[in-house]
Amino acid sequence: MVLISRSAESLREAARMTEERGRGAVTARCHEMDLSDLDTVGDEFQSVLESSSRAGRYDSCLLVNNAGSVGPVGLASSLFSPGESNNMRELRRAVDLNVTSSIWISAQFTKKFLDSPSIACTSTAGSPLVRIVNTSSLCALEPFPTMSIYSAGKAGRDMFHRALAKEHSTDYSHEDSSSHPNGNRQGRRQMFKVLNYAPGLCDTQMSEYLADCAVLDEGLHEYYTKSKEDDKWIRPEDTAKKLIRIIDLDEFESGSHVDYWDV
Ligand SMILES: NC(=O)c1ccc[n+]([C@@H]2O[C@H](COP(=O)([O-])OP(=O)(O)OC[C@H]3O[C@@H](n4cnc5c(N)ncnc54)[C@H](OP(=O)(O)O)[C@@H]3O)[C@@H](O)[C@H]2O)c1
Repeated sequence: MVLISRSAESLREAARMTEERGRGAVTARCHEMDLSDLDTVGDEFQSVLESSSRAGRYDSCLLVNNAGSVGPVGLASSLFSPGESNNMRELRRAVDLNVTSSIWISAQFTKKFLDSPSIACTSTAGSPLVRIVNTSSLCALEPFPTMSIYSAGKAGRDMFHRALAKEHSTDYSHEDSSSHPNGNRQGRRQMFKVLNYAPGLCDTQMSEYLADCAVLDEGLHEYYTKSKEDDKWIRPEDTAKKLIRIIDLDEFESGSHVDYWDV
């Protein structure tokens, strides 16, 4: 398992937990990377892909494209004052991380493992199954006032991943379904599938930030604080387990948007 984020300490902790729960069957490798820095992300992510594809031959490869930020929060009309270049820089950083870098990562992952299968091919079926999860949000579908930048980014990300799914909708494996527990009814599996997964309102730093945010829309603010008081925030491990079940079953339609509460 390859883990990417900016903080070495949280990466180390995530790697420790991953290996502990993997009981010797999982090795975690960490890469400190600022995915909002477009001057470096291309080369750094490429080198992660190179080292990962050299590290073994794969039956399947899964990318969880999860990193994100809430970006500037507030009424759009009050976010940006003419002449204040900091506003523009903050907007650009949000788009660089939430849209540009996310698109880049999924596109390069697809290229490496789907379009060049000889580099990372499996010993059995010839090409690995490739799955991409884009961490989405209800904000991709519904406009959330004062979260317009976040909503726009999530909607853009969803649409990119829907289009990516469509580009590869006819790529099927050749092997018989009997070799796979999840083989589909036609006896073949889709080589490439993309899922836009909305994890629900989770107990994370992002939600804490929004619950404390003085400029968040009043109705949203009440929803965040009330659901926190009522202990309704979803534990990250619970939404992760649901996601794993969806991926394992492999019954989702490629490119679809699936919410924690849908299944
Ligand atoms: N929390 C919710 O209720 C909720 C609901 C729907 C969707 N989501 C989505 O779920 C995903 C995770 O959100 P979260 O709630 O866990 O937010 P979070 O607590 O703020 O965590 C964000 C994650 O992204 C990483 N990250 C942020 N900026 C980065 C950068 N520039 N480069 C590399 N990694 C970066 C962070 O690691 P480092 O800080 O170490 O870099 C961290 O792992 C996001 O896409 C978010 O939009 C969250």
